[in-house]
Amino acid sequence: MLFLLSLLKLTLCLIVVSSEFIWKHHNNEELPLVLEEVHEKCPNITRVYALTEPSVRNIPLYVIEFSTTPGFHQPYKPEVKYVGNIHGNEVLGRELLLGLAHYLCDKYLDHDRHIKNLIENSRIHLLPAMNPDGWQLATDTGGNDYLIGRNNNHSIDLNRNFPDLDAITFEFERQGINHNNHLLKDVTRLAAPLEPETRAVMRWIMSVPFVLSAAMHGGDLVANYPYDESRSGAPVSEYSASPDDDTFRELAMTYASAHADMASVARRGCHTTNSDESATYNFGKQGGVTNGAAWYSLKGGMQDFNYLATNAFEITLELGCEKYPAASKLANEWERNREALVAYLWKAHIGIKGIVNDDSGFIQNAIISVVNITGPVPRPIRHDVTTGAYGDYYRLLTPGHYEVTASHPGYFPVSRVVTVPHYQQYALVLNFRLEPTTSWFDDETVFGLYPHGLRDGQPRIYKRSLYEKVANSMLEHKNTKH
Ligand SMILES: *[C@@H]1O[C@H](CO)[C@@H](O)[C@H](O)[C@H]1NC(C)=O
Ligand SMILES: *[C@@H]1O[C@H](CO)[C@@H](O)[C@H](O)[C@H]1NC(C)=O
Ligand SMILES: *[C@@H]1O[C@H](CO)[C@@H](O)[C@H](O)[C@H]1NC(C)=O
Ligand SMILES: [Zn+2]
Repeated sequence: MLFLLSLLKLTLCLIVVSSEFIWKHHNNEELPLVLEEVHEKCPNITRVYALTEPSVRNIPLYVIEFSTTPGFHQPYKPEVKYVGNIHGNEVLGRELLLGLAHYLCDKYLDHDRHIKNLIENSRIHLLPAMNPDGWQLATDTGGNDYLIGRNNNHSIDLNRNFPDLDAITFEFERQGINHNNHLLKDVTRLAAPLEPETRAVMRWIMSVPFVLSAAMHGGDLVANYPYDESRSGAPVSEYSASPDDDTFRELAMTYASAHADMASVARRGCHTTNSDESATYNFGKQGGVTNGAAWYSLKGGMQDFNYLATNAFEITLELGCEKYPAASKLANEWERNREALVAYLWKAHIGIKGIVNDDSGFIQNAIISVVNITGPVPRPIRHDVTTGAYGDYYRLLTPGHYEVTASHPGYFPVSRVVTVPHYQQYALVLNFRLEPTTSWFDDETVFGLYPHGLRDGQPRIYKRSLYEKVANSMLEHKNTKH
């Protein structure tokens, strides 16, 4: 019996060893098998899961996660994601993410210090295909059409199907309202029904505390950053800066400059047919990066949704001129992208991070706001981030001096000054301890409506949410008076 068991173990080992990654186009049945293979090779640091809903044609949207605590968020460890194959006929990202999964696992097993540090200090999620149905159609029809297979099986472009939060933030700007984050609750109507793939990804985005993300496309070679939508409605050529423009440029430039030639001035633009270079964009000449709307404006994209609905910063990667490169080109494309893929994941560690506490525990949904005091005139960055399930926050920032304030209704805000250095392996830790303004829990007039005895013996989180509700309703009353 023991012998049989060890024989079984041996054969399993052999299977694992023989499962070397092959560069080819993996179909929708092979995709989860590749992820399972990686999981079998690296069971301690991976988990394979599917999003809450499958595609229209019922194909699950599989994700592989890398962390030392698969399935669990840990404070001080930022969460990052890559999403591939959003347009079904743009397939390079899909294969690169399968290759990246193998690579991260292999390097971890080889005790590669760089990759081990990355995995031990972050939580990484890879969704190789958001649009498996479009991939099937594109593949069945030869994979060489510019549009066939782009959309999902309801003929909907998934990268136009997210709630248009840009419209809301631009309206707030016009009204002088200083509110530019977590805007999903401000949506009053949707331009179109949400597709199952969009819903699945939205639930994922809203439930995992992502800090950094990249969405993968094809058809050009450029790293594109928010906003994708122009303020005036201009269809092309209107730079649409977000409050984090400096940070987004830095994120996009990280990918572009670590890529083989995304940032190369010498390369030709993707759609140039003759010597007339000026007729089309040549992103190499601008460092391989572009603001979204400065290229062309779009509504309902995933990138801006991440930034405006959550704490995540997402950019869009156009990975190559060809949307569906031949299988023979994939290994070379991996070499051209490998360093950039890893360098970008490390960007989840720029800026500052920390935990917001009071004297009895951490505080969820505390607001972290930042003023850039690097130059002679202090410049508020009008996009706050919030603390998560363990009172932890992550604030991506470029090098400079900042005044950082943590606040929460019912507490005195606390500000601290910090210098983000030029070379950072990990984000600077900046924790906050807040003092309550009053002990409202002792106040009969506020708590008269609620049963007594809440103060003792109840879990802290329950008290916290009640506290928040009361604080919010008081604020509301204040607002309606003026
Ligand atoms: C997984 O963890 C166990 C227990 O710590 C260890 O014995 C095993 O070698 C690890 N396996 C891999 C593949 O790292
Ligand atoms: C939906 O999927 C079916 C089955 O694969 C296919 O025949 C049909 O063309 C697809 N429709 C669209 C609009 O993609
Ligand atoms: C803060 O300001 C400095 C100087 O203008 C700039 O270099 C830096 O990128 C800014 N940081 C952010 C996050 O905007
Ligand atoms: Zn695309």
